[in-house]
Formats: sequence, structure tokens, C-alpha cells
Amino acid sequence: MPMSSGTTNKKDHSFRVVGLPGDGVGAEVYQSACQVLAVMEDLFDFTIELDEQLIGGVAVDATGTPLPQATIDACKSADAALLGAVGGPKWDNYPAEQRPEFGLLKIRAEFNLFCNLRPIVTHPALYDFSPLRPERLLGVDLMMVRELTGGLYFGKKWRDADQAEDVCRYTRNEIKRITQAAGRLARQRKGRITLVDKANVLETSRLWREVVSQVLEEEFPDIVLENLLVDAAAMHLLTRAADFDVILTENLFGDILSDEASMLCGSMGLLPSASLGDTRFGIYEPIHGSAPDIAGQGKANPYGMLLSVAMMLRHSLEKVNEADALEKSIYRCWDEGILTPDLVPGAYGTADVTQAVCERLEHPA
Ligand code: NAD
Ligand code: IPM
Ligand code: MN
Repeated sequence: MPMSSGTTNKKDHSFRVVGLPGDGVGAEVYQSACQVLAVMEDLFDFTIELDEQLIGGVAVDATGTPLPQATIDACKSADAALLGAVGGPKWDNYPAEQRPEFGLLKIRAEFNLFCNLRPIVTHPALYDFSPLRPERLLGVDLMMVRELTGGLYFGKKWRDADQAEDVCRYTRNEIKRITQAAGRLARQRKGRITLVDKANVLETSRLWREVVSQVLEEEFPDIVLENLLVDAAAMHLLTRAADFDVILTENLFGDILSDEASMLCGSMGLLPSASLGDTRFGIYEPIHGSAPDIAGQGKANPYGMLLSVAMMLRHSLEKVNEADALEKSIYRCWDEGILTPDLVPGAYGTADVTQAVCERLEHPA
């Protein structure tokens, strides 16, 4: 989904993936992904040519810019990119265009990756690690569809000594294409979309409501639409998360609500994402950041990254059985309590978890 056409050579099942380790724990969980992919190549019938490139703070340090042209060029001829995370205190006071986060926004815009999928699925083996009671976690399986290349993130910005402004702008077409992506997804799921906005205050949200209901009426009459205001949605996510199927929302609200929703699963370190556009190429990354508070200690949770690898196998490389096998191995680890310290104090480190996932990978019979 949403995606068509591609560059993959189906015959020999060999793929080009750009590796973007980035900063802090980003580079640590990226290493975990590389190890798992190497084992999968041995086990399954595909090869991945991993082309490692710079993004974020490490790119600023090496080249003066958070998204060097070489990184963009490498992505142009790749099937997918796998990204750790960017950012860190070292670069927090750099000028806007030299901040690591700017590189991330720029690569999303460059490849028109307007559709960010963030699946939130609870797993019984992890119920005890969520701050919510198990009965609130039972059966949660929702897909956050976050618009990724518009809104406040990309509007005009300025600041002088006493004022600053960030413009929130959305066009009818931007809302239409993300609604169509959400509609196609909902059709493969339970057929329900919840549009989250702030239509009681924001003009952009009122445009979202108009366009979303029009697109669904005309093109997806089988899909049931619910509207929620974002403040209430933040509450509903904690009280009735299992009622949701697809949550469709704009860039900033999706960013915030997905971090909140990660706690249904137990930790920020568990959630994957896929950023997709109109072609096969996508960027796959965990939703978390560079976690400067734990970087360099070998205890980052790699599961969000590994689940992002599974999303990459499924969406960009069309290796569905392989994606299933990787997810199965991850869930086995969870069942066996192989978890990092963000979930269980003093438990397994990143390297132990990675090895455990590799050892449990099985070729589908
Ligand atoms: P963060 O996601 O880095 O960390 C938030 C909290 O979650 C921290 O306590 C951290 O230790 C924990 N955490 C995050 N990932 C974890 C993992 N894999 N395993 C265990 N614990 C994990 O958010 P932040 O602290 O607000 O931001 C730090 C930096 O990361 C900032 O520079 C920010 O801009 C950047 N950031 C980048 C991305 C990205 O690259 N996609 C996403 C979010 C934040
Ligand atoms: C994310 C991050 C980014 C975002 C930042 C680092 C620009 O928080 O991927 O969720 O806000 O989109
Ligand atoms: Mn975020």
C-alpha cells in the first residue's frame, strides 16, 4: 500500500537498501537490524545490498549539512531506506537548517513520503509492562495514518526578537491523497476510520473534515467514518483503544498521539513506522528518537527497529513470508521475556535481544 511501480529485480530477489544509522541509539538499533538482515539473507532466498549513508547530526559533523546530496542520490536508486534516529543535545542550538531533524524532514519531503504508518498492536506477553490495566489493552490493533509532509512542520516559519510564527497550511489535494491511502488500508482491516482534528478551532481541521468526508463518500462508501477532536482522542486512546481501527490525522497530531499510544504496548522502543509515497520506495524507522539519556550503554530496545525491518520487507520488498517470519521470531522472544531495561530493569541488552531474534528465525515450512 499505497504504492505501485518499482525498481526491484524480482528475478534474483536482490534489493538495494540505503542504511541511515543516524545519531545516538539510532546507530545502535540500526546495527541490530543489519545483523538480523544478514541472518535472514542466509536463511531466505534474497540478498540486500546495504548502502550506508549519512543523515542527522553525524552528517552535520562530517559535511556541514544534515542531509548530504550523496544520501539523496543513494535513495534515488534504492528500493527502501532503513533509518535509526537523528538528533541530540550537541546540535540543539545549531541554526534551523543545520539541525539533525531538518535532515529527516527534508528527506521525507524530497521523496514525497506523505503517508506515515504507525501500527499499534498490543501483545499479551507485554501487558504487564504498560502503565494501563490489561483490560484496557486487550485486542488493541490500530493503525495510525499520519500525514507526513504538510501542516505546521512545512509551513512558512519566521522569528524576530519578540515574535515567531509557524504557519499551518494544508491543501485539498494533500488531504485527499492521505485519505485515499487510509481508505485503502481500512478496506483491508475492519473498515473504520477515525479522523482526529481540532475542527472546533482550526480552519485547516475544518478543511480536513470536508475533504475526508467527501473522499470517503465518493470513493469509499463502505468505510465508516468517526470524527474526534484531538484533545478528546488523547483521552479515548487510554480508555477505549481497542475500538479504533484506522486513525487518520495531520502531521503534528500524529506525532504526539503515536508516542502516547506507544505506552499501550509498553515502551516507545517497540513501535515501528513506514513512510510511504506513490512509489515502491519507503523509509522505515522506529518512532523513537536518539534517546541521549541511554545512548552508548548498549541497552536500547531494538524491537521497534526490527519491526520496521519487517514493515520494509512487507511493503517495499514484497517479502511477505519473510516479514511474517521476523515478526514471529520477535513475538517468541516477547513470550520468553527477552526484553530490554525500558521494560524490565536489569534485563537483556540490545546485543542479547538481537542474537535471540536471530536464533529464533525460522524458514516458513
Ligand atoms: P526519544 O524518543 O529519543 O526518547 C524519549 C524517551 O524514550 C527517553 O527516555 C529514551 O530513553 C526512551 N527511548 C527512546 N527510544 C528507546 C529505545 N529504543 N529503547 C529504550 N528506550 C528508548 O525522544 P527525546 O528524548 O524527546 O528526543 C531526543 C532526540 O531525538 C531529540 O534530538 C529529538 O529531536 C530526536 N528525535 C528523533 C526522532 C527520529 O529520528 N525519528 C524521533 C523523535 C525524536
Ligand atoms: C518522529 C520525530 C520527528 C517528527 C522529528 C525528529 C522531526 O519526532 O519521527 O516522530 O516530529 O516527525
Ligand atoms: Mn515523534
